[in-house]
Amino acid sequence: MKIIRTSNYDEMSKMAAQILEEDIINNPQITLGLATGSTPTGLYSELIKKYNEGKISFEKIKTVNLDEYVGISPDNKQSYNYFMKENLFNKIDIKEENTYIPNGLVENLEQECQRYNEIINDMPNRVQLLGIGSNGHIGFNEPADSFQEGTNVVDLKQSTIKDNSKKYFDGDENSIPKKAISMGIDQIMSADKIVLIASGKNKSKAIYDAICEDVSPNCPASIIKQHPNVTIIVDEEAAQLLPKDI
Ligand code: PGA
Repeated sequence: MKIIRTSNYDEMSKMAAQILEEDIINNPQITLGLATGSTPTGLYSELIKKYNEGKISFEKIKTVNLDEYVGISPDNKQSYNYFMKENLFNKIDIKEENTYIPNGLVENLEQECQRYNEIINDMPNRVQLLGIGSNGHIGFNEPADSFQEGTNVVDLKQSTIKDNSKKYFDGDENSIPKKAISMGIDQIMSADKIVLIASGKNKSKAIYDAICEDVSPNCPASIIKQHPNVTIIVDEEAAQLLPKDI
C-alpha cells in the first residue's frame, strides 16, 4: 500500500490526476472505475485540463461508476448520472456508450444489479478510483457485519444521509434517497489497481481506521489493504490522525 500525503485538496487532486494520466497514456483503452461526490471534482477538472491540452484522450476509454441513488432518474440533477456528465463526460471526448452507471430508476432492481455485475465482469484492466465516506464506506458499501458481494441495493446509513443531504440536498434529509445501488466490495477489489483519495478532517477517522486498524466490514475501506496495488492520496487534514511515520 502506497500512501501519498499532500498538503491540501488541490495538491491531492493534481497528484491523483497525474497518476490517472500516466495510466491512460500507458493504456489508452483502460477502464476507469469512477467515483462521485465532492472529493473527485478537483481531479476531474484536472483531467479535463489535460484533455484540453492534448495530453490525454478518452476516445477508447470505458468507465464504470461505483453507484447511483435508487428512485431518481438519470436526468435528475441530484443523480450520479447527471453528476458525471456535468463534471466530466460532457467536457471530454469519451463516447457515451462507453460510460456505465447503474440506473436507479428501474422497476426491477435485482435485474439491474445483475446487468451491472455482467458489465463489470466484462471489463478488464480497470483502475478503480475511490472516495471514502466519513463512516468508512467505499462506493455505497456501508459498515456492516460482512463485506457486500456483487452489485447490490444498499440501505444508506444515517451518517451518509446526513453527510450527503448537507452537500447535495440543501440539508433536507427527507428528500435524499435512502437506498442506492452499489458495486460490491469484491468487485472493487477485482480492479487491477485502486486509487483512493480523501480530503478534510471529517475523513480523518475513516482514513485512520482504513489504514491502521484491522480489516473489518465495520470500516469497508479497510479491506483495500489486502489489494496488491493500492495508492491512497490524502491531504493534511484527512491524514491528521495517522502516525507520523506513515
Ligand atoms: P464525498 O463522498 O467525496 O462527497 O466526501 C465520498 C464518499 O462518500 O465516498
